[in-house]
Amino acid sequence: MPRTQRPVPDPRLVGWLREAGRPVSGEELASRLGCSRAAVWKHIAALRAQGFAIGAHHARGYSLDGTPDRLDAMTLAPLLRGRWREIDWHERIDSTQRRARELGRAGADEGAVVVAEAQTAGRGRLGRSWHSPAGLNLYCSILLRPSVALADVPQIALVAGLAVAEAVEVTTGLGPRLKWPNDVLLEGRKTAGILTELEAEEERVQLVIAGIGVNLNVEAFPEELADKATSLRLAVGHPVDRGAFLAGLLAAFEARYERFLASGFAPMRAEWESYAALTGRTVRVAAPQGEVAGRVLGLDDDGALRLDRGAGDVVRVVAGEVSVVDGYGG
Ligand code: BTN
Repeated sequence: MPRTQRPVPDPRLVGWLREAGRPVSGEELASRLGCSRAAVWKHIAALRAQGFAIGAHHARGYSLDGTPDRLDAMTLAPLLRGRWREIDWHERIDSTQRRARELGRAGADEGAVVVAEAQTAGRGRLGRSWHSPAGLNLYCSILLRPSVALADVPQIALVAGLAVAEAVEVTTGLGPRLKWPNDVLLEGRKTAGILTELEAEEERVQLVIAGIGVNLNVEAFPEELADKATSLRLAVGHPVDRGAFLAGLLAAFEARYERFLASGFAPMRAEWESYAALTGRTVRVAAPQGEVAGRVLGLDDDGALRLDRGAGDVVRVVAGEVSVVDGYGG
């Protein structure tokens, strides 16, 4: 390595400085890394070059004073809590869904997470596009390899929705709502969406890509979204920490996904319903079997929407696009 080249900084350094919350001596860092103090200095310089604010305090050592507003592996590593730690980060990409599928086909492990700062062809449900401006929001796709029946795969989107709702609630202190199947709303406007895609061979699920888009810090939307969408920042009045949000979301989703694999969606049904935006509302669902209208009773154990069409005529809808006929009722 030429003398002037900076080393790739060790992500553990960021974690140690963050945990300490005070300056840590170069000597201590050198002993933890198993290198010289001069090498520590090179790691610090490399971290600074990547946008980390690191203070140097005479006779006391180094402190972490700020991290870049970027969702790359280096920034996320010290924040991640679960087993899903493989971060494939892109400054700009067409769609994280496409990339996650590519990684999946190449044999990547379950839990690989593709993250982008911007998407040029972000995809939504039902062939729509997903507004993906740079550096403000969260666009991620998680590679899953569940051993479940094909018919149960849509439940993974419900599980992901629950995890997103929890992360939004923890971050904002506000009460997010879930609009079946998996839109996350704040104050009646959409703040997150989930797109699950799967590949299967002869009824056997090969991979599922759980794509999650969350409007975190965006403040302006294109005209067609302006009265339907919101962001966490607009709802709370200040920017949110995107790295902390993603780390919390991945931990919440991973824990729920493990429970889902062990016991199915049924044990999470009541929790999902506690966030439900539609219970008691009159809705119309554009479902594959045609349009169905009725009052929402709740979910079945398998995640199907239960609608009362009147006079005790209760139907189940397993997929579709819901429009609310009588508003969200506050
Ligand atoms: C919806 O229509 O509500 C689903 C939106 C899903 C958007 C996310 S952003 C990350 C991932 N990559 C995509 O292209 N789409 C999903």
